[in-house]
Amino acid sequence: MSSRKKLIAGNWKMNKTSADAAALVTDIVAAVGRQADVDVVVCPPFTSLESVGKALDGSTVNLGAQNMHPEASGAYTGEISAPMLRAIFATHVILGHSERRAYCGETDAFVNKKVLAALKNQLKPILCVGETLAEREAGATLKVVQTQLEGGLEGVNKEQVASIVIAYEPVWAIGTGKVATTEQAQEVHAFIRGLLVKLFGEPMAQKVRILYGGSMKPSNAPELLAQKDIDGGLIGGASLEARSFVELVTVAAAVK
Ligand code: 13P
Repeated sequence: MSSRKKLIAGNWKMNKTSADAAALVTDIVAAVGRQADVDVVVCPPFTSLESVGKALDGSTVNLGAQNMHPEASGAYTGEISAPMLRAIFATHVILGHSERRAYCGETDAFVNKKVLAALKNQLKPILCVGETLAEREAGATLKVVQTQLEGGLEGVNKEQVASIVIAYEPVWAIGTGKVATTEQAQEVHAFIRGLLVKLFGEPMAQKVRILYGGSMKPSNAPELLAQKDIDGGLIGGASLEARSFVELVTVAAAVK
C-alpha cells in the first residue's frame, strides 16, 4: 500500500447557483466533514467560493478554485488572483484543465506561470494533463503528457513539488462515460511518476499525488484507486450530487 493519502477532489465546473452550492456543501460536510482518512477538496465556481468556504469552516474538507490568473492584481477583467483565493482560505486551485486549454486557449507556458504563482502564494496546484482521442489513436499519449507535465512544472523546485497534485485526465474520458481501463490509467500514472523521479528525485516524486479524472464514479473507482500510482480522483459529474461524491470518498477510504 502506498504511503500517500488518497485525495478526492470535486470539480463542479460551471454548475450550481450559490443556493445550489450551499445545499450540496451542507450535505457533503454532514457526511464526510469529519473524516480524516482521505483528503477531500471541493472546487465550486467563483460565485460561490466564499460561501462554500464558510460552510466548510471547522470541517476537514478543503476549498479549491477551478482557475486563477498568474498576476497578483491589475487590469485583467474577469480574472481572479492567487492572493484573492488565499484571502478566502482556498487551499487548492485546478490549473490547466483540458476544458480551459481547449476553449480558452491556455498553453503550457501560461499554465506554468499560474503554477508558479499558486506555489508562491501557498496554494496547492492541481495540474491537469491528458491526451485527446486523436492523440491516443496516433500513439502520442505519453509524448503529449510529457510535454504538458514538463511545460507546466518548469521552474518548480524540489522543495515545492510535494505541494503539487497532478491530475491525469484523458480528454476522451471526460463527461463521456468512457472511463480509461485500469491498465490504461495506471500506465500513464506510472509514466508520470517516472518523469517526476527524473525531475525531482525518487523521494520527492513518491510524495506527489497523481489523481485520475474522467467519468470516475463509485462503480469504477475501487479498481482505479487500487492501482499503485492512482492516488485519488478529480471528479466532475459524480461530484455534483452529495450521494455519489460521498460514496467516492468512502470508497477511497476503504482502498488498501
Ligand atoms: P467527469 O467526471 O464528468 O468525466 O469530469 C472529469 C473532469 O474533467 C474533472 O476535472
